[in-house]
Amino acid sequence: MPKLRTVAVVAGAALLARRAMRRRIRTSPLWPMPALEEPVSGRPRSRALRLLVTSREEVAEGVVRLRLEGRELPRWEPGAHLDLVLPSGLVRQYSLCGDPEDTSSYTVATRLVPDGRGGSREVHEQVREGMELEVRGPRNRFPLVEAESYVFVVGGIGITPVLPMLRALPDEVEWRLVYCGRDRASMPFVEDVEKLGRDRVTVVEGLPDLDALLAGAPEGAAVYCCGPEGLMAAMEERFPRVHLERFTPRTSGGDAFEVELRRSGRTLTVPADSTVLAAVRAELPDTLYSCEQGFCGTCQQRVLEGEVDHRDELLTDGERADSMLICVSRARGDRLVLDM
Ligand code: FES
Repeated sequence: MPKLRTVAVVAGAALLARRAMRRRIRTSPLWPMPALEEPVSGRPRSRALRLLVTSREEVAEGVVRLRLEGRELPRWEPGAHLDLVLPSGLVRQYSLCGDPEDTSSYTVATRLVPDGRGGSREVHEQVREGMELEVRGPRNRFPLVEAESYVFVVGGIGITPVLPMLRALPDEVEWRLVYCGRDRASMPFVEDVEKLGRDRVTVVEGLPDLDALLAGAPEGAAVYCCGPEGLMAAMEERFPRVHLERFTPRTSGGDAFEVELRRSGRTLTVPADSTVLAAVRAELPDTLYSCEQGFCGTCQQRVLEGEVDHRDELLTDGERADSMLICVSRARGDRLVLDM
């Protein structure tokens, strides 16, 4: 009898945990309600907060973790990210990797990309303890869906949105993590994820053999990937329904095309490996922009003619009918006309 009761208690606890997770997943809003302001142009905007950097710590080679403190901060769900407004005004997105229950601080981590667009360098070189930074969000484009089992494949700093997901999953839920990186020293939070279940975690130093690593992946598992573009493209090939978190948009790819700036009376060529924003700024240097990733909306312009290949995840269908984010989106044909 005692054995049976133990089994029943464990099964009951597992059921309750699974129900709690379902409730969390079902009720998870894309934009946490406390951060909402009234919609602008039909699109919700998040409230800006000024938070104090209370800790800055190197947690792996080339990776710093920042703790940003405030009061009664908007809640978030695993997978969410913050927009961080850097001292120069650049806006960059970083996944939240701390405790979602903590409403007094947010934790993010960033890897230094020496030949990047400047955001990570600014975080590493200029952000110090005691500074105030403006943040917006949190927002979640990478939510944890309900599933019987999960497969996570991450590369390097891509572990940050996945770490809170692993912590949120009830013990009885089956999951596997393939964590790839150059070497252990450069892989943030590798020991934290191993503590969550060493038998469920495969650490790969160097290039992963995805086919071999994922050969036994459970049928029907929810598959998540975050990391370098090459890794995400390889996962997309193998798992068309994979959940991806991209902080670097696919801005190039496709053919060169022409853009006419009707009000300025100029016509530009956008090369296949560049963006409309870069071409426009060469002619009109005061053109407003910020994130260059299709997240903030600063570069939105009205389209007068031509079909747009929208590559952002921000504009609504209504907005897409006559406008585009010129930092990431391109032409479907060979010509666009903008109201600039
Ligand atoms: S600059 Fe942020 S969306 Fe284009």
